[in-house]
Amino acid sequence: MTQRVIEITSPFFIPRQRLEDGARLDEFFEKDQPLALEIGCGIGDFIIQLAEQQPQVNFLAIDIYNKGCYKTCSRIETAGLTNVRVMRIEARYLLTHFFSADSLAAVYINCPDPWPKKRHRSRRLVNRDFVQTLLYYLNPGGDFYFSTDFDDYGESVAELMPTVEGYINALDTGFARSLPGYPISKYMRRFLQKGQEIYFVHCRKATQIRPEALQRPAIDPGFRVRWSRAENE
Ligand SMILES: C[S@@+](CC[C@H](N)C(=O)[O-])C[C@H]1O[C@@H](n2cnc3c(N)ncnc32)[C@H](O)[C@@H]1O
Repeated sequence: MTQRVIEITSPFFIPRQRLEDGARLDEFFEKDQPLALEIGCGIGDFIIQLAEQQPQVNFLAIDIYNKGCYKTCSRIETAGLTNVRVMRIEARYLLTHFFSADSLAAVYINCPDPWPKKRHRSRRLVNRDFVQTLLYYLNPGGDFYFSTDFDDYGESVAELMPTVEGYINALDTGFARSLPGYPISKYMRRFLQKGQEIYFVHCRKATQIRPEALQRPAIDPGFRVRWSRAENE
């Protein structure tokens, strides 16, 4: 059943059309400071805490889920935060259309959809192509954080990262079971309450990268069939 799309009129929401019409992202933030991106913000638990911790950073929280974006905006207003903006947009589309190289101080992805069935694994957001895409948009030294409760996803991303030229592991091991000071997202909390452990991966973009290892990603042509359901919610 298709749900009604909630119109989001919050001043913290950036309609995609504004960027399509030529506005620059930095115009939407009050302060000129580094920009970090959360992909798949859900209803905003994580970004609210992170933005409180780091007022010296501007945060863009994105999701393709309309109600999640709506709730995240309400929570930003309630928390009185001025350094967060929200967009309802698909991650690859956003990056390849509206970002330039070396423009992100950090990227956070928490508990992305695990696509547990083997035949659906190719739908996972975080794979080699995607982390290579992120590398292009991260600042030299910029952080990439990934968390999941799903064993197979956590292990595969922890194994993948050392094989992608241009990333340096910020941890002593491939993954950690906790990151000091790292906020807990809604899904993380849910899994922790059930006694499941979380995998955290934290890498940084190297400051010196061979140019051949850093290709400009191809422009993402837009929403794929699998996003059409979420687009209508
Ligand atoms: C399992 S939820 C996790 C939400 C939140 N990060 C948390 O940990 O509580 C995954 C979220 O990612 C969003 N999402 C999935 N793929 C996305 C994409 N390609 N671009 C933007 N958001 C995406 C989904 O709509 C969903 O809200």
